[in-house]
Amino acid sequence: MQKLEVFGINKLKGQIDISGSKNASLPVLAATLLSDKKIYLRNLPKVKDIETMINLLRSLGSKVKFVKKNLIIDNCNQNKKFAAYKLVKTMRAGILVLGPLLAKFGYAKVSLPGGCAIGSRPIDLHLKGLSKLGVQYKIDQGYVHAVAPRGLKGSNIRFSKISVGATENLIIAACLAKGTTILNNCAIEPEIKDLTSFLIKLGCNIKWIAKRSIKIVGVKDIKQIRYSVMFDRIEACTYLIAAAITEGRLKIKNVIPNVIKTEIDILKKIGVKIVTKKKEIKVIGNKKIKSINIKTAPYPGFPTDLQAQFMVLLCKADKESFIQENIFENRFMHVAELNRMGAQIKIKGNKVLVKGNITFAAAELMATDLRASVSLILAALTAKGRSVINRIYHLDRGYEGIEKKLKKVGAKIRRIN
Ligand code: UD1
Repeated sequence: MQKLEVFGINKLKGQIDISGSKNASLPVLAATLLSDKKIYLRNLPKVKDIETMINLLRSLGSKVKFVKKNLIIDNCNQNKKFAAYKLVKTMRAGILVLGPLLAKFGYAKVSLPGGCAIGSRPIDLHLKGLSKLGVQYKIDQGYVHAVAPRGLKGSNIRFSKISVGATENLIIAACLAKGTTILNNCAIEPEIKDLTSFLIKLGCNIKWIAKRSIKIVGVKDIKQIRYSVMFDRIEACTYLIAAAITEGRLKIKNVIPNVIKTEIDILKKIGVKIVTKKKEIKVIGNKKIKSINIKTAPYPGFPTDLQAQFMVLLCKADKESFIQENIFENRFMHVAELNRMGAQIKIKGNKVLVKGNITFAAAELMATDLRASVSLILAALTAKGRSVINRIYHLDRGYEGIEKKLKKVGAKIRRIN
């Protein structure tokens, strides 16, 4: 099994190009199932989850190939409606094929994604929403068997809780449903706006009618298009934190700073120097980091996917900070590992108390999930000596070439077997 070896302390200096967004690419890939024409996608990140989604599409009969920087997806003969456990189990976003398959064929059998390390992560909101569009389903032997006997029919739906995945599944499904669908209390993460931009380009009739409401009128005709997915905002912020924590200086390229305004404002508030341009951010770390209290929330709030990385930074703050996790019930698994490195973080329910002024000590570490893994790298960059991070397959799910990018800006990091 591969590991990462990091020799700290590293001060990062230079330029990092941000990859395409994993979380934007996954729903866009699932939504290509709506089409029976060729779709050309660009800027997909080279990460494991994208590979898994491509394999899932292939298993459904899509022809998918890379030609230079384009991923060409040809669904002319796509006719399978069965998404197997072995593909969906490793990546929850596999459930996103349910909506488009039902919209296209009126039938689908898709594996339940099951639990995951950060929480139980049910799909009840996806299923409730789809039922309102005329879907009948049963769950049998770990699979959702879903059928829409009279096809999908537009409806008025209010999500009882904000969910990124359920919003995406329902948006995609409603594009081919008969009549008008109104979705209320939608997630409005930038990746969802990217998905709707993609679908509109495909010829779908979609309009945001209020901050969290969207109107979709079903269409029959889908166009052949080219689309480039948005930048990865979580990757971008991870590198902003990497510069801040190592008191380095980085230029972060291929980003739209306004999309990560919440995170930039917090970084500025705690003392990190940040200068934004149209598609670039300059970040200069400061010796002094001020403490702050943070609560995770749906966009435009502070993202749960950056909670672990910010926690590492706040270990360096001048005083104690609080972080409250409001999205997932079990997203503090990095805490035990960080404490092994000398952090003093106490968990109280869904809150943590992060003691400041910590000097991290190098250690052998275990990655537990995608964002937890990267938080360990951040801590290792500031810990004197050799740290080894095990189970980095979590990291490979979502960070394209992280060790290459970090090495380029001065980190002493390498992959070992
Ligand atoms: C997506 C992101 C993930 C991010 C999360 C929250 C992708 C591929 N993944 O995950 O990186 O951390 O948004 O920003 O884009 N819930 C239910 N019932 C449901 C669905 C969700 O109760 O049917 C709950 C979840 O357990 C969780 C909360 O709603 O507590 C938010 O989950 P959701 O927004 O759906 O996350 P994902 O789409 O799985």
